[in-house]
Amino acid sequence: MACRESWRTFELYDAGAIREMSLSLGQSPPATVAVVGASRGIGLAFARAYAADGARVHALCRDPRQAADISGVTGDVTVHRLDVAVPQESASVARSIGEPIDIYIHNAGIYGPDDAEPIDAEAWAQVMQVNVIGALKCAEAFRPLVAAGKRKLMVFLTSRMGSIGDNRSGGSIIYRSSKAALNAAVKSLALDAAGQGICACVMHPGWVRTEMGGLSAPLSPEASVANMRRVIARLGSADSGRFWNHDGAELPW
Ligand SMILES: NC(=O)c1ccc[n+]([C@@H]2O[C@H](COP(=O)([O-])OP(=O)(O)OC[C@H]3O[C@@H](n4cnc5c(N)ncnc54)[C@H](OP(=O)(O)O)[C@@H]3O)[C@@H](O)[C@H]2O)c1
Repeated sequence: MACRESWRTFELYDAGAIREMSLSLGQSPPATVAVVGASRGIGLAFARAYAADGARVHALCRDPRQAADISGVTGDVTVHRLDVAVPQESASVARSIGEPIDIYIHNAGIYGPDDAEPIDAEAWAQVMQVNVIGALKCAEAFRPLVAAGKRKLMVFLTSRMGSIGDNRSGGSIIYRSSKAALNAAVKSLALDAAGQGICACVMHPGWVRTEMGGLSAPLSPEASVANMRRVIARLGSADSGRFWNHDGAELPW
């Protein structure tokens, strides 16, 4: 912890200089982080915060031409194109990154339409494609890079709305079911990847002021990400396969 804080004293230098300096001092360089869905909202705030800390950041965006904010982030940031709904794209972008990833953050997600009858089956399938199948195809593609990293962390942004045990209000069937399925898939991933020393878990960011969360949400993306980064900083193999709130509390499945 003291080691990470010490990077702040170098904030006048750019991220490349920090990396060079740390290597010449024989210290380990800051982490390499991949953020999937980094164009806006919580993903953009994650990329910004890690880049400000001197991390090397791979920011993966559905359409980098429409993601002006991520291109403006200062630091060691490389923007890649990745639409998680296109299954073969994750394998080719992971191949082109081709270096160890210490912390993998899977943030990309969509809400889909609110409940209506008749159920919009196509919209439901699209939400499952992005939030579940896309996330697990990405996990499959990035797992070898994470296994080669130092922290070996895979964090998937879920929602408390995906908790079956916590569902007391009903509704939002499409979104809730997609996050419940993501939770179930990441639980299996955590067990399957334990032998590689990987910690895979799901995390609820709180109710956050983004396009998805809306203007009434109490948390800014920066505050949510600061909370989650505190939790991420202390995650280890014993924390794998668990459902974390942004404040470090554990949530029911
Ligand atoms: N905000 C909240 O209160 C809240 C609460 C609980 C959970 N969450 C979860 O937190 C995560 C981030 O939410 P947010 O509030 O930041 O949402 P947001 O503002 O709507 O941003 C969603 C992000 O996901 C990306 N994305 C969507 N579809 C994609 C695809 N097919 N391929 C690649 N990227 C894709 C978007 O990229 P484009 O710009 O290209 O569309 C954008 O960067 C989501 O998983 C969400 O379910 C949010």
